[in-house]
Amino acid sequence: MSKILVTGGAGFIGSHIVEELLKNNEQVVVIDNFSMGSMDNLPKDDKLTVVEGDISSKETIEKLFQQHQFKKIFHLGAIASVAASVEDPLHTHQTNLEATLYLLEETRKQGGLERFVFASSAAVYGDEPTLPKKETSTIRPLTPYAIDKFASEQYVLAFSRLYDIPTTAVRFFNVFGNRQNPSSPYSGVVSILTDKFKQLVNNEETNFTLYGDGEQTRDFIYVKDVVQANLLVSESREAIGKVFNVGTGESTSLNELIGMYEEITNTKLPIKQLEERSGDIKESYSDISELKSLGFEPKFSMGEGLLEYWNKEND
Ligand code: UD1
Repeated sequence: MSKILVTGGAGFIGSHIVEELLKNNEQVVVIDNFSMGSMDNLPKDDKLTVVEGDISSKETIEKLFQQHQFKKIFHLGAIASVAASVEDPLHTHQTNLEATLYLLEETRKQGGLERFVFASSAAVYGDEPTLPKKETSTIRPLTPYAIDKFASEQYVLAFSRLYDIPTTAVRFFNVFGNRQNPSSPYSGVVSILTDKFKQLVNNEETNFTLYGDGEQTRDFIYVKDVVQANLLVSESREAIGKVFNVGTGESTSLNELIGMYEEITNTKLPIKQLEERSGDIKESYSDISELKSLGFEPKFSMGEGLLEYWNKEND
């Protein structure tokens, strides 16, 4: 029986994809080294096999393909922190680029794959100021993280051209939702805010460090819409050999985001304002007309996503 592999499947976005695949009655194999992911992110299910292993090990990937036959691969396993990639570019490269090649090579040997979906990032656009970001916009990868994401997506697309392996790459904008780790100052800002608002409603003293004036904007997309986008591209023949932005096409400022959260929680968040963070970009949002041409429509507005996230966190 043919299975679906999700690398990094115990992590934030991966585990949401796994959950949806299981609902659709698929047989799913997760490989994760649990550096960021957790068993708690995954449901107990007979259709799910979890392999603890490091995708940067060629032997581990070879063994995985000896034990299972895959019809689809969602490749999300990565060192997800840009800051960590700056600290340790070599280690990041092994996980964020070499592992992609190991998977592609095993896919080539195995044959018969229906789709390989690679999770890339809006980080590939860097600080190039043209907005909105289209897939054809100038690429300016500024960090080891962004460089490896871009190189990986190019390998993924080349495998479609050169070896006829049906691949697709997706560039995620600012994804938010439950199971995103808020513990580092470089964690996604929505997860950090959620943590702060939890403290507030528990009457704990807290404040939020705001870098800059709060007028910076991002294209925040709720994780469920990201799952929807991943499944859609994996099923669409027109998506083969292409790259797609995954965002909402809308931009929200940090000040607006904080305002929405204050309304949901009926609290007032104390702010400690600092200088703009070095390397920060002022504005970012996606053009998603390519994804929409496949039939994608985000189901959650920023406010709706935030409300569901908050309710799930406080279940
Ligand atoms: C994302 C990456 C970041 C990378 C950047 C460029 C994540 C979580 N962040 O940042 O590592 O360098 O793309 O590719 O993947 N903010 C605060 N207070 C906080 C945290 C954040 O004010 O406690 C601000 C930030 O300065 C930024 C905004 O919130 O202006 C959004 O931050 P973040 O969620 O890290 O997203 P990106 O800036 O897009």
